[in-house]
Amino acid sequence: MIRVLTIDGMKSEVRRRRAAGLTVGFVPTMGALHEGHLSLVRESRRKADVTVVSIFVNPLQFGAGEDLAKYPRDIENDAALLEGEGVDVLFLPEAAEMYPPGFQTAVEVVRLQESLCGASRPGHFRGVATVVLKLLNIVRPEVVFFGQKDAQQAVILGRLAADLNLDVEVRVMPIVREPDGLAMSSRNAYLSPAERRAAAVLYRGIEEARRAFEAGERRAGVISARVREVIAGEPLARIDYVEAVGWPDLGCLDLIDRDALVAVAVRIGGTRLIDNTILVAKG
Ligand code: PAJ
Repeated sequence: MIRVLTIDGMKSEVRRRRAAGLTVGFVPTMGALHEGHLSLVRESRRKADVTVVSIFVNPLQFGAGEDLAKYPRDIENDAALLEGEGVDVLFLPEAAEMYPPGFQTAVEVVRLQESLCGASRPGHFRGVATVVLKLLNIVRPEVVFFGQKDAQQAVILGRLAADLNLDVEVRVMPIVREPDGLAMSSRNAYLSPAERRAAAVLYRGIEEARRAFEAGERRAGVISARVREVIAGEPLARIDYVEAVGWPDLGCLDLIDRDALVAVAVRIGGTRLIDNTILVAKG
């Protein structure tokens, strides 16, 4: 695995391999890698000849008072994990390389960014869309991999690729979970042992939604209320939002008569965690 620090270096590395007829798969990350990230890497290894992973803690997508400064960073451990997975190129740009003085362009996926996390983290998805468009322009992969863990992010980036005619296939992979159901996340490292136990309530909440749906409940408000009730039973948890919206349009739903996303964001102590499930309306 080679490490590339500069944008020019990354561009020429990919150009060389593409000239040799190889296809490129790309997994953008912010590091502190876990099995969720590695599931994307493995899929890229299966689908493409060359796998590029980026690690860049993108300042543009963190709001004031969010965890940019303390976001977990462990490049050497991450690099060892990626080496073990057979990754070809690790792209590690500095913030000054990505956002030099004078940088001022942004891209927004206007409507999809409004609901769910977009409502509680203003500017977040503009930062995500902008950095991912930059990374796609630098790496120019045939296929890029995202996780359903960040479901709204995945649909926003799929829309971005379609709307701006990017020559890239966007693939979304299932959520990888801990044995108690907690979705893997770099932010789980912030949790104390008591908070870590409490955090399993997100998964119990979305499982309750799935159970209600499978038992025939179709009223979105009733399903959300059942999820809220489960999460409210955990004293360390504070709900940011619990919502059932259309999938993949994220539009308002009264009745779940088509595919729906049930998404939750919950604060456990000072840590904000998210989880979701997709309810598939059959027939
Ligand atoms: P990060 O949180 O590091 O996540 C990188 C990718 O891993 C995202 O596509 C995310 O959805 C996926 N992922 C995280 N946890 C997962 C899990 N438990 N199961 C499956 N996939 C999981 O998301 C970002 O970084 C950034 O916003 C980024 C897209 C890199 C732009 O800065």
